[in-house]
Amino acid sequence: MSQSLLFRRAMVVAALLLAASSSLQPQNGIGASSFDQLESLRAFSRIASVLTSPRCLNCHVPGDSPLQGDAGTPHGMNVKRGPDGRGTPAMRCSNCHQDTNSSQLHAPPGCPDWRLPPPSMRMAWQGLSVGELCRTLKDPAANGNRSLEQLLEHFRNDRIVNWGWAPGPGRTIPPLSHDDFVAEVTRWVKMGSACPPE
Ligand code: HEC
Ligand code: HEC
Repeated sequence: MSQSLLFRRAMVVAALLLAASSSLQPQNGIGASSFDQLESLRAFSRIASVLTSPRCLNCHVPGDSPLQGDAGTPHGMNVKRGPDGRGTPAMRCSNCHQDTNSSQLHAPPGCPDWRLPPPSMRMAWQGLSVGELCRTLKDPAANGNRSLEQLLEHFRNDRIVNWGWAPGPGRTIPPLSHDDFVAEVTRWVKMGSACPPE
């Protein structure tokens, strides 16, 4: 086969691939190709590895008290969520948690408006399977009525989320960098925000 024929065949194949890929763009998850769905699921498994890391899970709890440390032990001093997530009148989060981390080991970490989600928001992830976690995240009744774009925005810019990557001495950071995490969420959304069945 001559070089130019080979080249022309390669061009035809490339053109076909291009046409195929552009006709398979996901439309809000409806009609997404199985390739897109696989990519989306793959992205979500990486996202889940961050959401289930102690820096996120310690506040996203079903119970009435935060957890602490990498082992997720109950918060000391019987600290309670309270009606607005900022503690009880006698024991406000801000009594101990300041706007920045303290540099001492086992001293309170800090970030402006440190708090738990209020009870009405049902933003609990602890104990969920990856599929349940995914559906909870997408559920407006359990995500603060956010669209997928608003979730992405929260992951990118929220101060408490960003604290997770600068949590103060003695605390591990999530398994992906913050940039990689945001990139995975972007890919998950773009490819149809698929959730695993389990
Ligand atoms: C100090 C407690 C605390 C920690 C730690 C924390 N969050 Fe949150 N999170 C909150 C509060 C409070 C809200 C509710 C704020 C709102 O809806 O505006 C929230 C809401 C959210 C939401 C939007 C609602 C939802 O549940 O879908 C997302 C997404 C989120 N957090 C992601 C994270 C991630 C990722 C981490 C870890 C890197 C993390 N959070 C760590 C307190 C925390
Ligand atoms: C009496 C002081 C005090 C109060 C009040 C308090 N905390 Fe804490 N908190 C601490 C200390 C000290 C630590 C660090 C413990 C350690 O690292 O061993 C801590 C750690 C935490 C952690 C663990 C961070 C991590 O990822 O390991 C979370 C989450 C947390 N607090 C949430 C809250 C919330 C939410 C409130 C209010 C509802 C609150 N705390 C009220 C003293 C307090």
